[in-house]
Amino acid sequence: MPDSPRFLMCPPDCYQVDYVINVWMEGNVDRSSRERAAEQWRGLHAVLQAHAEVELVPPAQGWPDMVFTANAGLVLGKTAIVSRFFHPERQGEEPHFKDWFEQAGFTVHELPEDLPFEGAGDALLDREGRWLWAGYGPRSELDSHPFLARWLGIEVLSLRLVDKRFYHLDTCFCPLAGGYLLYYPAAFDAYSNGLIERRVPAAKRFAVPEPDAVSFVCNAVNVGRKLIVNQAGEATRAWLGTAGFEVIETPLTEFMKAGGAAKCLTLRLDEAERADTRAIAAVESREVRLEGHLLDSGLLDRALDLIVDGAGSFQILEFNLGKQRQSTSDARLKVSAPSAEALERIMGQLIVLGAAGADGVGERGPRLEAVIQAGVAPADFSVTTIYPTEVKTARGWTRVEGQRMDGVIVVGSDGRAECRLIRDLQVGEQVVTGVDGIRLPRKTESREAAAEPGGAAADEFGFMGAGVSSERRVELVVEQIAWELRRIRDQGGKVVVVAGPVVIHTGGGAHLAGLIREGYVHVLLGGNAVAVHDMEQNILGTSLGMDMQRGVSVHGGHRHHLKVINTVRAHGGIAQTVAAGDLHGGVMYECVRRGVPFSLAGSIRDDGPLPDTVMDLLQAQADYARLIRGADMILMLSSMLHSIGVGNMTPAGVKLVCVDINPAVVTKLADRGSVESVGVVTDVGLFLSLLVAQLARLNGVHAAV
Ligand SMILES: NC(=O)c1ccc[n+]([C@@H]2O[C@H](COP(=O)([O-])OP(=O)(O)OC[C@H]3O[C@@H](n4cnc5c(N)ncnc54)[C@H](O)[C@@H]3O)[C@@H](O)[C@H]2O)c1
Repeated sequence: MPDSPRFLMCPPDCYQVDYVINVWMEGNVDRSSRERAAEQWRGLHAVLQAHAEVELVPPAQGWPDMVFTANAGLVLGKTAIVSRFFHPERQGEEPHFKDWFEQAGFTVHELPEDLPFEGAGDALLDREGRWLWAGYGPRSELDSHPFLARWLGIEVLSLRLVDKRFYHLDTCFCPLAGGYLLYYPAAFDAYSNGLIERRVPAAKRFAVPEPDAVSFVCNAVNVGRKLIVNQAGEATRAWLGTAGFEVIETPLTEFMKAGGAAKCLTLRLDEAERADTRAIAAVESREVRLEGHLLDSGLLDRALDLIVDGAGSFQILEFNLGKQRQSTSDARLKVSAPSAEALERIMGQLIVLGAAGADGVGERGPRLEAVIQAGVAPADFSVTTIYPTEVKTARGWTRVEGQRMDGVIVVGSDGRAECRLIRDLQVGEQVVTGVDGIRLPRKTESREAAAEPGGAAADEFGFMGAGVSSERRVELVVEQIAWELRRIRDQGGKVVVVAGPVVIHTGGGAHLAGLIREGYVHVLLGGNAVAVHDMEQNILGTSLGMDMQRGVSVHGGHRHHLKVINTVRAHGGIAQTVAAGDLHGGVMYECVRRGVPFSLAGSIRDDGPLPDTVMDLLQAQADYARLIRGADMILMLSSMLHSIGVGNMTPAGVKLVCVDINPAVVTKLADRGSVESVGVVTDVGLFLSLLVAQLARLNGVHAAV
C-alpha cells in the first residue's frame, strides 16, 4: 500500500503512571493497570491498522511515557524535528526517538538544548498542509516556532495554551481533513482564538463542549474521513456526522490517567509537503535590559509575569546579581511574542517598569506621526504614565515636559518633547507612536521600601511605600504626615488638599480650616458640595440639615444647603460673601482670607451651583492641572471623584496621601506603582483631628481635639 497513511506507535510494555507532570497524573501514580493498558493499546493499534500502516519504536525501560509517540518529534516530508522535553522525567526519551528517526531515513533537526518543544503534541499540521498550528505555554516555548518555520519551510501559527488540563495542543485542538477543525476555545487565550477564527471559517470549526473536551475528543486520530477517539459526546458526533466524518471509539481510559489518548499514542509519519508553502513565523523577539533591585523589589518577577500575561515568553540571557544589600542587579532578557503587536504591547509595559532596549532597537529615535485631525491622535500613539519619561530627539535623550498619565508625547521641530492631552492636539504636530525611542529612567526602588510596604522604615517620608495603612497604622502615618506638612510649609513648599463634602459631615471642617489658617495648605481642590456644606455649617450651623453640635436634624434643615447656595449666588460668589460679612469661618472663609487659591469642579449632581463652581469640565480640569503644578504633597480627603481626577494629572515624585473609609478607593489611588503614594483607610474626620493634634504637639502647643 504505497499511498496508505503511516503512523508510529510504541508498545506499552514500560507504561505506567510513575510521576506527576500534568494535572491528569495527579492521584494516578501506580494506579494504571498494565493489562488493561495493553489491551486498550492493542485495540487502538488494531483500529489504526485497518486504515493505515503502523510502525513500532521499541519501548525503553525507565521511560514510561515513550508510549506517547506524538511527542517523539514533528515530521514533515523527510524532515523530523526531534522533541526537547520540558520535564526531566521525559528527557531520556529524546535519544531513543532520535535514533529511530535517523534509522528510518529522516533528516533530523535538533533544537537548542534549553528550548523545549514537544513534537507533534504541540504542533499540528493543517490537514490540507497549508500551515502548521503550534502550541506554546505549558510545555513548548514560543521561541521554538521560528525554528519549525525555517526547517519545515511552512507558516507557523502560534497558539497559546492557558488551561493546565490542556497542556499540549493536541489535547484540545484537532485539525481535520477538508479544512475542518475540532477545538476547545477556552483552552486558548483571546489572541489565539482570534487567529483560529480568522483562519478557519465558522462553518468549518466546531467548539466542543467541555465534557467532550475533558474526555479528550480532540485527542483524535484523523485518517481521511475517519476519526479515532477515546469517546465522543452526542453534539460532537452530530457535527462530525454532518461534516462527513465517521467516528470510531476505542476506549483509552488507562492512558487518560497519564493525560493522553488516541492522538498522543500515535505519530503520523507520512505528512506530505506542499510546493507552495513558505517559512513564516509571526513570532517577534527583542532584547531588553533591566536594572535595579531586581529580586528584592520584585521587579524581575513583575517583568516576567507581564511578559507571560501578555502572551509572550522570555529567556534570561544574562543575570548579574548585586552582591551587597545596597548594590543593584541587572538582567538581559530576550522577550518573544506571537506577533509584532503583542510584542509592542509587552514592550510598552516593560518600558514602564524601567526596561530599556538592549538590542540597539531601543536606541533608535521614536516613530513620529503627524496629527491630521485636531484633537485626534495617530492610531498607534504611545500613552504616557506618571513616570518621568525621556524621548530620543534631535537633542539626544530629552525629558518630556508636563509629565502626567493618559497623555501623548508631542515632539517639536526644536527637539523638545511635551506631554499633551489628545483633545489639545493640533494638526501637523508630531506625536510619538509605538515603543521605540522612549525610556523611563526609574529611580531604583530601595530594598527597604519593597520589604516593608507602607512601613515606616526608611529615611525620608518612610511610610510612603505604595502601601495601604490599616487602622492600627493610622497614628504612625499621621505623625509622619504632620512632620512633612511642617517641613514643606517651613521650606516654602506647596501642599494641595483635595476634599469632598464628607470632610464637613464628619466634623473635619474646623480642622481643615485650621490647617489653612496655619499656612499648611496652599491650594484647595474640590467640588460644589464641599464648599456648600462648609458654608452651610458656618452660616447656619448645620451640615445637610444636621445640627453638627448635637447630631440631630434641624426642622426645615433640608432647605439649608439651598439657602446657603442662594445667599452666595445673591452675593455673586464666595469671596464676595466673605467680603459682605455673611461668612465668618470655615474652610472657604480661610481660603478667601489667606488668599489660598481653590477650584471647585462641577458635577451632574450639583445643586445650585455656586457661582464659583466651574461647570465647564474641560476648564475645571485645566484649572486643577494648573493648580497642582509644583506640588510637593497632595492630601486627598474622601472624594473619590476628585482624587482620581487629580491622581491622573499628577506626575510621579509628588507625595500622595489618600484618606478614605473605603479600602478599594484607597488601593486604587495609592496603587500607582509609585513609591510616593500612601493610602490611609480611616474616617476622614478622625484623621484630620489626629493630624491637627499632632501638628500642635510638634509645635509645642496642646490642642483640644
Ligand atoms: N449638593 C450638592 O451639590 C452635592 C452633594 C454631594 C455631592 N456633590 C458632588 O458630587 C461629586 C462627588 O461627590 P463626592 O466627592 O462626595 O463623592 P465620591 O463618591 O466621589 O467620594 C466620596 C468618598 O468619600 C468616602 N467616604 C465616605 N464616608 C467617609 C468617611 N467617614 N471617612 C472617609 N471617607 C469617607 C467614600 O468611600 C468615597 O470614596 C462632587 O463633585 C460633589 O461636589 C454635590
